Amino acid sequence: MPKMTMIPRVSPQARRYVEEVLDFGFHNAGSPGISARLEERFAARFGRRYGVLHANGTATMHSALLAAGVGVGDEVIVPAYTVAMTGTVALYSNAVPIFADVDPETWTISPEDVRRKITPRTKAIIPVSICGLAADMDPIMKVAADHNLTVIEDNAQCFLGKYKGRLVGSIGQFASFSFQASKHMTCGDGGILICDDEELATGARKAATAGYSTLTAKPGDNVVAEELRCHPSFTRHTSLGYNFRLPEIAAAVALGELERLEELIAMRTTVAACFSEVVDACDWLIPQKTPDGYVNSFWTYTVRIARDDVDWAEFRKKFVDLGGDGFYGAYLPVYREPVFGNLSDAVKAQPERYPHFVGLLPDYRQVSCPVWEAIQPRVIQLKTNYFELSEAERQADVLAQTIQSFGSSGENRRGSAVS
Ligand SMILES: Cc1ncc(COP(=O)(O)O)c(C=O)c1O
Repeated sequence: MPKMTMIPRVSPQARRYVEEVLDFGFHNAGSPGISARLEERFAARFGRRYGVLHANGTATMHSALLAAGVGVGDEVIVPAYTVAMTGTVALYSNAVPIFADVDPETWTISPEDVRRKITPRTKAIIPVSICGLAADMDPIMKVAADHNLTVIEDNAQCFLGKYKGRLVGSIGQFASFSFQASKHMTCGDGGILICDDEELATGARKAATAGYSTLTAKPGDNVVAEELRCHPSFTRHTSLGYNFRLPEIAAAVALGELERLEELIAMRTTVAACFSEVVDACDWLIPQKTPDGYVNSFWTYTVRIARDDVDWAEFRKKFVDLGGDGFYGAYLPVYREPVFGNLSDAVKAQPERYPHFVGLLPDYRQVSCPVWEAIQPRVIQLKTNYFELSEAERQADVLAQTIQSFGSSGENRRGSAVS
C-alpha cells in the first residue's frame, strides 16, 4: 500500500461527482446514475454480485434481517462489544438480540459462545469487524450452516480488512458497511449492503424502498418507472418497506471516496504503525490481537491498559494535557445500555403491549458476558483518521510521553489476557 504523508479530507473526484449531480438537477423520473455506479462498483470491489445503498449502516442491517425473514419469535446473536445498533436492529425487526461474549485477545465475537447461545429460535448471527478487525468467520459460517442461519457481517468499522486471505465483506450471506463520518470512507452518513443472492438483494431493496412492487436487485433500481406509477390503478406496495434511500448527492461523495479507498486504508494503517511502534515498547498496553492471516483495517488503534495502578481517566487526562487528542473508551457491553433493561422492564410491566416479546425477551439486567465486562473499562481506542502524517507522529510521541509519565510496573505484564 502507498505510504501517506498528507491527503485531502474530501477527494477531488468526490467534488466532481457532486458537480455532476448538481448539473443534472433533481428529477422525479431520472438520475445521473451515480447510485447505480456506486452499487455496482462497491459490490464488485468485494467480489459480490449485488449492492443496495442505504441511508446509513444501521438501516442496512435492518433491511438484511427483513429480507432474511427474521421477525417475531426469532433470535439474532450479536457480540457484546459493538455499537448498540447491531443489537437494536433485531428489536426493530421484532426479534430478540442475544449477546455472545468476545474472544479475550481479538475482542471479536467468540464462535464458542455463539454456539452456546444457539436455540431453536435463532435465525441470524451478526458478527462485527470491531475496530477494523474481522471476527473469526470460519467457525461462525460453520455453525450458521449447521443451523440454517443467515450471517450478516457488520463491517461498519472495516473496509479492505482480510480474514485468512479473503476480503472482509465477501463471506456472510450479507455484508453491511457504514459511510458515517468516522468511517474509512464517508459521505457524512450512508451505508451499503452487499450480497450474492438475487432474492435477498431484492428483498433488501424493497425493505429499504417502501416495498415498491417492481423494484429489483439491479444497480440503482430504487425508483418505479414513470409509465407505471403515473397510472391511477397501479398498485405500488406489495410488502412493508421503509424509506432508507441514500440521496444521490451523498452517493456522489461516496463514489469519489470509493475510488481512493486504498489510499484511505493506507492512511489508517500508517497511523496505526506509528502508535504500534510506541505500544510495542510498553509491556502494559496490550493491543487488540490481529491473528496471523488477518489484515486489520484499523478503524481505531485499540489497546487495553494491563496495569491495575493506571486509571483509564487519569491516562486520558495526561494524554490530553500533553497535547494528545481525546481518545474514546470502548462501548459499554451493549446489553448494559439502559434501553435494553428498560425494554425488559416494560415487557414485564405491560405484557399486552409487547405480546411478541413476552416469554422471549431476556431480562437484559441479568445478562452477562464476563470476558468483555472485564476488558471493556480498560480499553483505549486511539483515532487513526489523521490526514497528515506529521500529526499522527506527534500523537504517537505524546502517547510515548504519557506512557513514560506512568513509569513501569512489575505486575500484570503482557501475556495475561485480562488484568
Ligand atoms: C460496528 C458498527 N455497526 C453499525 C454502525 C451503524 O452505522 P451508522 O451510524 O451508519 O448507522 C456503526 C456506526 O457507528 C458501527 O460502528
